[in-house]
Amino acid sequence: MEKKRMLSGITTTGQMTLGNYIGAMKNFVSMQDEFEMFVFVANLHGITTPIGKEDLRRNIKNMVTLYFACGLDPKKSTVFVQSEVLEHTLLAWVLTCNTTLGELQRMTQFKDKSVKMKSENGTEFIPTGLLTYPVLMAADILLYDPAFVPVGKDQKQHIELTRNLAERMNNKFGEMFSTPEEFTPKVGSKIMDLQDPSKKMSKSAENPKSFIALLDDVNEVKKKIKSAVTDSENIIKYDPENKPGVSNLLTIYSALKEVEMNEVEKHFEGKDYGVLKEEVSEVVVALLTDIQTRYNQLLGSDEVDNWLNEGAEKARKIARKKMTKVLNLTGLNYKRK
Ligand code: AMP
Ligand code: TRP
Repeated sequence: MEKKRMLSGITTTGQMTLGNYIGAMKNFVSMQDEFEMFVFVANLHGITTPIGKEDLRRNIKNMVTLYFACGLDPKKSTVFVQSEVLEHTLLAWVLTCNTTLGELQRMTQFKDKSVKMKSENGTEFIPTGLLTYPVLMAADILLYDPAFVPVGKDQKQHIELTRNLAERMNNKFGEMFSTPEEFTPKVGSKIMDLQDPSKKMSKSAENPKSFIALLDDVNEVKKKIKSAVTDSENIIKYDPENKPGVSNLLTIYSALKEVEMNEVEKHFEGKDYGVLKEEVSEVVVALLTDIQTRYNQLLGSDEVDNWLNEGAEKARKIARKKMTKVLNLTGLNYKRK
């Protein structure tokens, strides 16, 4: 039986975090046998907010190498850099012209991010890319007709928009896209900030104690977990509403150990927060040590470059075919005599 296709990407705005790993990467890796995986480094998404050239370069390299270090197998999965497949931006423009301003302004991620950038000059300092980026995301997806798009909870709304755009284009111009389903993991689709567990763990957080980066020094990681915000009850229970800090640590443990939450709760029953932090630290450090060892091996070889060339080649073939269809159906192609 033919494998179903799955596609996902991660934005290059900073260091890959434990949130990215648990919410995204870990799932890509575990699904690559069952599905035909396409995974890309979303570097075009990485410039929606200002970023310096050197930082961007470092993030791209760091991310692709981590993809492989975390276990993506180039023989099974197609891994590529978004900007190396030009069709993404071409389709994004066609879709932009079929999207309304209202639709984009309603996106919660845009609202959250743009509020922070609003100034006395109104919207003068909000980059337009921040508004239109969900359309680029829709293009990323629709070029490949994936059956599923594995993402964290924060991306649900963007997948919804993608589905709407696919249907709109099909109705307007004729069948060109299939409508993808989102795919969110049962555990760990939202890992929270260690210092403020009401927010998701984000690589763009200002305080480095807020997140664990996959390439962090493991001694730093131990300190970060030790200083994670909990509460004063000293009762270990999964209750995200009333005990967000403790629940977040339990989620990390459950996701990495691959043990159901009720089992995890049983394991920690009667123990104190010191023990919880110690054990979470142990599993996280074991994971990072493993990833970092493979990361360093890969950095010293040419393998990654070769895998990326092959990945882009494969992706381009599919994207080009889809784009030709779109140009034909929308009337954009110039037909020569
Ligand atoms: P981003 O880093 O925002 O580009 O996200 C890349 C992928 O990682 C998306 O599928 C996100 O939903 C997922 N992700 C990012 N941060 C977290 C988090 N704190 N917890 C779980 N998943 C996350
Ligand atoms: N916007 C996604 C994020 O920030 C990353 C992304 C870009 C993506 N294009 C995508 C995810 C296409 C899935 C499919 O998490």
